Amino acid sequence: MRVLITGGAGFIGSHLAEKLAARGDQIVVVDDFNAFYSPDVKRENWKQVQAAARKHQAPAPSLHKLDICNAKQLEAKLDGGSFDQIVHLAARAGVRQSIHQPELYVRVNVMGTLNLLEWAHKHGVKKFIFASSSSVYGLNEKIPFSENDLIGKTISPYASTKLAAEQLCSNYSHLHGIECICLRFFTVYGPRQRPDLAIHKFARQIMRGEPVHQYGDGTTRRDYTYIDDTIDGVLAAMKYSKPFDIFNLGESETVELRYLIAQLEQILGRKAQVEILPQQAGDVPVTYADIAKARALLGYSPQTKIQDGLRKFADWFLARKKWDEH
Ligand SMILES: NC(=O)c1ccc[n+]([C@@H]2O[C@H](COP(=O)([O-])OP(=O)(O)OC[C@H]3O[C@@H](n4cnc5c(N)ncnc54)[C@H](O)[C@@H]3O)[C@@H](O)[C@H]2O)c1
Repeated sequence: MRVLITGGAGFIGSHLAEKLAARGDQIVVVDDFNAFYSPDVKRENWKQVQAAARKHQAPAPSLHKLDICNAKQLEAKLDGGSFDQIVHLAARAGVRQSIHQPELYVRVNVMGTLNLLEWAHKHGVKKFIFASSSSVYGLNEKIPFSENDLIGKTISPYASTKLAAEQLCSNYSHLHGIECICLRFFTVYGPRQRPDLAIHKFARQIMRGEPVHQYGDGTTRRDYTYIDDTIDGVLAAMKYSKPFDIFNLGESETVELRYLIAQLEQILGRKAQVEILPQQAGDVPVTYADIAKARALLGYSPQTKIQDGLRKFADWFLARKKWDEH
């Protein structure tokens, strides 16, 4: 299969690219290597993808360093190359940053997605997988969150861009017959996790002996999903056929922030200097996925419990010895 992965040098994208390359798929990656976090980390991720392809004697994956907002560049560099599927992961991620740079988030996450859907339409791509987010549920009061819930209470520009992009996917499915599957990821973690996300950030602060900023009283809850489970869900969605659909890909278990910090202290063998700060604007109190639909239609079945996943994350994190990196 020939697959275009946008954001393929990032955390989730590089894991997916590695997996697809290992099974012999022809991978083309688009990534702009922006400085949201160190481009060196993304280059390191890309090397892992290349190594996986070599190890499995798969076709060499190719990389286009370009910005998805630039439709002309997309057209010129991708050169119509016939793809079976596009997995669109490139985005400005991060709720808090989106409050400070809403225009950038709208440009990349909404306009960028529109550019790719247009490109897919023009070049006859039949299937488009979109990385959405649990944040679209916003202040949804009913838990666990179900794909059938009526949502309209997003509380950050990031969440709103993801909701808007889901709607664009629905439009292109309806108008142009592109199969669009939106996957709502719930806080993904594991080796190569983005350095701005809680688990990675806390681990770095604990190892450096810096204060660990705990926003609120520590009772906020997140549904953490181990990367391998998320990737299994993406692979299942790539095989699933429907004009348009939406799936939650979570673990369907919630973990309190204070418990997460305590677990990290135990696994890293160091005490955290917890500094309690006010709750951050844009942060929701809870994320909790109802995964009944993904189980039934995708055969999705998350396997990694938080304690095991944190240990695997810590093994990678400690072996890497790069705590000074952002
Ligand atoms: N990690 C999570 O917990 C999580 C949760 C919900 C949704 N998501 C979504 O999943 C996707 C992947 O997330 P991630 O954690 O791997 O993030 P990431 O930042 O590691 O990966 C995104 C990649 O996209 C690239 N990119 C960003 N803007 C681009 C642009 N304009 N043109 C080309 N490339 C661009 C980045 O350089 C990066 O390599 C994102 O769409 C994110 O919103 C992630």
